[in-house]
Amino acid sequence: MIQCAILGATGYTGIELAKILLRHPHVKLSCLTSRQDEPPELSLLIPEISKQTTLKLEKFNAAEVAKKSDIVFICLPHTEAMETAAHFYKAGKIVIDLSADFRLKDAKVYKEWYKHPHARKELLKEAVYGLPELNRRQIRSANLIANPGCYPTSAILGLLPLLSKNLIETRGIVIDSNSGVSGAGKKITASTFFGEVNENFKAYKVNAHQHMPEIQAALEEAAHGRVDFSFVPHLLPVHRGILSTIYAEKKKGVKKKEIFRAFEAAYGGEPFVRFKKDGEFPSLRDVQHTNFCDVGIAAEDSNGRVIVLSAIDNLLKGASGQAVQNMNIRCGFPEESGLVS
Ligand SMILES: NC(=O)c1ccc[n+]([C@@H]2O[C@H](COP(=O)([O-])OP(=O)(O)OC[C@H]3O[C@@H](n4cnc5c(N)ncnc54)[C@H](OP(=O)(O)O)[C@@H]3O)[C@@H](O)[C@H]2O)c1
Repeated sequence: MIQCAILGATGYTGIELAKILLRHPHVKLSCLTSRQDEPPELSLLIPEISKQTTLKLEKFNAAEVAKKSDIVFICLPHTEAMETAAHFYKAGKIVIDLSADFRLKDAKVYKEWYKHPHARKELLKEAVYGLPELNRRQIRSANLIANPGCYPTSAILGLLPLLSKNLIETRGIVIDSNSGVSGAGKKITASTFFGEVNENFKAYKVNAHQHMPEIQAALEEAAHGRVDFSFVPHLLPVHRGILSTIYAEKKKGVKKKEIFRAFEAAYGGEPFVRFKKDGEFPSLRDVQHTNFCDVGIAAEDSNGRVIVLSAIDNLLKGASGQAVQNMNIRCGFPEESGLVS
């Protein structure tokens, strides 16, 4: 059986990934690592874990990870992941990196947005951006998969059918995204602790969020040209989920019927995108704890604008669920393995 390792297993995405891989029918979770000298008991991180599991968290040791794994999932902070990902990729493992370190193709753009030079530039062109709805064919043979960010997953899936079918203007798009606090990871920061977030709602990094170049690259690939958009992320006082509301101008003469057809054609066969009926819109509750992205649109012929709403669970379709979806594609397993009950 294919063996999997999770590095950074004590964090939010690592824990979600461990839960999925422990019940996955085609792989064995064989290694979980932490930087800590005495990592916590697995049952403290995942209280619902079966008593039968003998798996323990280990202090990270590259040789041990290599011995115990065919696939290495990297759940480390960005800038921390690049050397580790490169090491296991060069050792012949399939690497699925949940950080941002291999999502951008241009090292200069990476440095500009992540304020850190890229130490493994030579691998940027080899990494495949792991959004199945965009790159399924390339993911099938990729050994370095850059798992998309949470905001980009929700924004890109909301816009792909419109841009690839040339139904909207490529200038003046507005992406208004609202995220639960787990999007920022487990470590406590001044802006994400309970007292700051509870009963509050605020925007941050307005048109300056590091996910913007990632969104831009995917939208421009779909549109085959320049796309200009504004991006306003907000912090919601909930733990998990992202709801994006996206506004775009329809191209002259484009009818509601064509827009609905484009979404149905793009997502009708997708296992994890649910396109809502006319008049229905997504909510966080419907996607929390699932790998689904729900998409709803308003596109009346009497109005020049199309409004798309797209919702995901940031820790699943926005991170660990999508990472498993990528593994399933890469390994030739049914795409829904481990991800639906
Ligand atoms: N949270 C989300 O919704 C989300 C969505 C998409 C992508 N991502 C990306 O996935 C990666 C993991 O995110 P996460 O939310 O799981 O983060 P997290 O909760 O902060 O966990 C990261 C883990 O990495 C380990 N680590 C190793 N080196 C570290 C360092 N120098 N500083 C801090 N932690 C370090 C820590 O475990 P030990 O202390 O035990 O070693 C920590 O538990 C990040 O790159 C993030 O951007 C997150």
